[in-house]
Amino acid sequence: MSEVVLSLEDVVAGYGRAAPVLRGLTVPVRAGEVVCLVGPNGAGKSTALKVASGLLAPRSGRVLLDGRDVTGLPPQRLLALGLAHVLQGHSVFREMTVAENVRLGGYTVRDQARLNARIEAVKELFPVVGERWGSMAGLLSGGQQKQVEFARALMLEPSVVLLDEPSMGLDPRNTQVVFDRIDLMRRTGVAVLLVEQNARRALEMADLGCVLDLGRVHISGPARELAADPRLGRLYLGGAPAS
Ligand SMILES: Nc1ncnc2c1ncn2[C@@H]1O[C@H](COP(=O)(O)OP(=O)(O)OP(=O)(O)O)[C@@H](O)[C@H]1O
Ligand SMILES: [Mg+2]
Repeated sequence: MSEVVLSLEDVVAGYGRAAPVLRGLTVPVRAGEVVCLVGPNGAGKSTALKVASGLLAPRSGRVLLDGRDVTGLPPQRLLALGLAHVLQGHSVFREMTVAENVRLGGYTVRDQARLNARIEAVKELFPVVGERWGSMAGLLSGGQQKQVEFARALMLEPSVVLLDEPSMGLDPRNTQVVFDRIDLMRRTGVAVLLVEQNARRALEMADLGCVLDLGRVHISGPARELAADPRLGRLYLGGAPAS
């Protein structure tokens, strides 16, 4: 098995004085693997990603990146260390061009040659980014905009990418495109921590699946097996799996 690049260890986290949302969450993410976090609305999936990317400091527990304790570091430090977070919802700047959006992801790269090489690399991974380079991002379809977000996130060549509901609001065709691109990212060796409403679809393509309940991993295992696990059918996936 490849090495664990990101791990959440026994994380307890929440907001303000309210009871914690995460109550001892442990999730390992290995290089070149997609780990899919599923669970009902409000289970704490986005909260888990926020803790991983430094947007929310945990009350206890640790976040390890490449074996290094990075708990409590701010998001820009974590980004520089190789962890990128694509937030839930649409986060492209619609009034800016695709080029401007993608370049934002590489704004800390001072070396022009390296910057150009990264631009070429993300264009190769997401052809639509190159094809629509000069277009206003708001004119692209939802699936195309998601690919611009992915390209922006990959500009610093992260070792881990957190994807929060990347298929939200997309039709089946665009959803398929987005899933195919996640598979491509995995093939480049990136580790992906994925949160998805399309739980069954996501589990079918992921390596490891983790089901969140009451702030902890309730069930975890090989994602394809989880997708077919009858316990999930009624609870989280909207009906028993097709047999
Ligand atoms: N900024 C915030 N301030 C206070 N409470 C919050 C905040 N963000 C989330 N919560 C609460 O934390 C809990 C978990 O929210 P979270 O967004 O992590 O859930 P989720 O599993 O991502 O849900 P969804 O599937 O709807 O995206 C919810 O009860 C939510 O109301
Ligand atoms: Mg969420």
